[in-house]
Amino acid sequence: MIPIGVKESCWTLCILVRVCIAALWMATGVSVVTATMAPSLCFVPAASRLAAPARPRQQQQQQQQHELTMSLDKDIIYHPPASTETKKPPRRERYNGRYPRNFGDKYKEHEGDADTIAKVLAKGMTPAGRHIPILLKECLYHLGLSSQQDDALQSSSSISSQPLLVVDCTLGYGGHSSQILKALGEAEKGSRLVAFDQDSLEIVKTEERLRAVLRELMNMNMNMNGTGPGAGAIPTTKEEEIIFTAVNQNFSTLASYLRETDQLGKVTSLLADLGLSSMQIDDNSRGFTYKREGPLDMRMNTDSSTETAYHLLCRLKPKQLQAMLAENSDEVFASEIASALLEKKGKKGANAIVPETTVELAERVRDTVRPLLQDKKQQQKKLSSGAVKKLLDSTVARVMQAIRIEINGEFRVLDQLLEDLPHVLVPNGRAVFLTFHSGEDRRVKKAFKAGFKNGIYSSWSSDVVRPSSKERRDNPRSSCCKLRWAIRSDSKDASVADII
Ligand SMILES: C[S@@+](CC[C@H](N)C(=O)[O-])C[C@H]1O[C@@H](n2cnc3c(N)ncnc32)[C@H](O)[C@@H]1O
Repeated sequence: MIPIGVKESCWTLCILVRVCIAALWMATGVSVVTATMAPSLCFVPAASRLAAPARPRQQQQQQQQHELTMSLDKDIIYHPPASTETKKPPRRERYNGRYPRNFGDKYKEHEGDADTIAKVLAKGMTPAGRHIPILLKECLYHLGLSSQQDDALQSSSSISSQPLLVVDCTLGYGGHSSQILKALGEAEKGSRLVAFDQDSLEIVKTEERLRAVLRELMNMNMNMNGTGPGAGAIPTTKEEEIIFTAVNQNFSTLASYLRETDQLGKVTSLLADLGLSSMQIDDNSRGFTYKREGPLDMRMNTDSSTETAYHLLCRLKPKQLQAMLAENSDEVFASEIASALLEKKGKKGANAIVPETTVELAERVRDTVRPLLQDKKQQQKKLSSGAVKKLLDSTVARVMQAIRIEINGEFRVLDQLLEDLPHVLVPNGRAVFLTFHSGEDRRVKKAFKAGFKNGIYSSWSSDVVRPSSKERRDNPRSSCCKLRWAIRSDSKDASVADII
């Protein structure tokens, strides 16, 4: 028993200490607390104390104890002061006009605001920071992961009753891959997905998104099975790794990756959805679009030491640029555009005249081609101003595409993948390629046709699969897409030389 007098003095002392600390908070605005102080005196910011509704003493103490534990757990011994005024969120950067135009300003779309996203989709556009997968059902069907083109999620065991090994060469936003994971959920145990992307900026976000999809799927399975202590538990990263691996590499390294991981010749389905994702196109700071000002960069892999589009233009001679525009984009005005882009190079000092931004390049191309169209116009019927604008824009798009193909070595790595494909696939394994321009489709067609002739592929799509008119309307970016597929022959004779 503590004598009454001592108890009262303790309370008085306690109250005195509290008053002093409160005065100190008010005077300095700083809450310096050490972990040795009594929990009832610690870690409650002044503002929340003022605002806190009256609570029973014991409950308050429990809450304060919890806050202390949490803070100590995180190794925090200093809390910045909580102002007594309500803090305003930082002001967003202002943009011109009523609606944001730049990728970074479209914060409602980035934050996933449902109303804004619905409005953007209704306009046939892609919300910022997203990518709408193209020919999704058709891809799953030709990959052997769905039994019907119009019923994407019914898995098919047409390849074998063995676990499936699916490779997505171009992960992007993960639109195709998330559906592949769902299909694998219904396939044999041990089925897995390996997904490549060379874009280190986007692959991190996509991997996180797909891990969430995977966790949801695994929870659903566990809950459905209702098995043991694991039911409904969140699986560890290690467990997820078995099923889904994201590889931040160029797909030209696929064969060596598979060899090193003892998976060469075991791939049951392979998807390559070539080109750029919408996130890359729409982000003007990456320099892929001529519609907004941005640096002439155009690298998909920003980590590597590969040169930017600007540096490429600085290095090329007009004849080389002309050949590149003709080869990569079948550009009819290649000669005129090449001399205009590298105009007077060297006369005003090194590279002074080479365009540095996307908009500068677009203007230079338009100014060059406009009079050439007018010359043509005199021989043909008169073109409306709308038609001229369209022709000029498509010329700019072709020029940018040609430069982008060069910067990213797109034809070289596609040729490499097509060459490795027969070694990568298991007998009866399937490959699906989505291409977006004639240079890509020509290569895929040629490789599949030759492989079929040699008995490497048992069948292939001599006719391309195209998006429906509804898909093209809903997602105009799908308009120029062509799907081709091939199935690896199961004949032993068709085996090809080792690629070591
Ligand atoms: C059209 S997007 C894929 C979209 C994806 N199918 C989806 O539904 O979200 C193409 C992606 O492939 C990547 N890519 C293009 N060429 C590549 C290559 N050679 N190696 C690895 N990734 C590549 C790009 O960075 C981009 O993210």
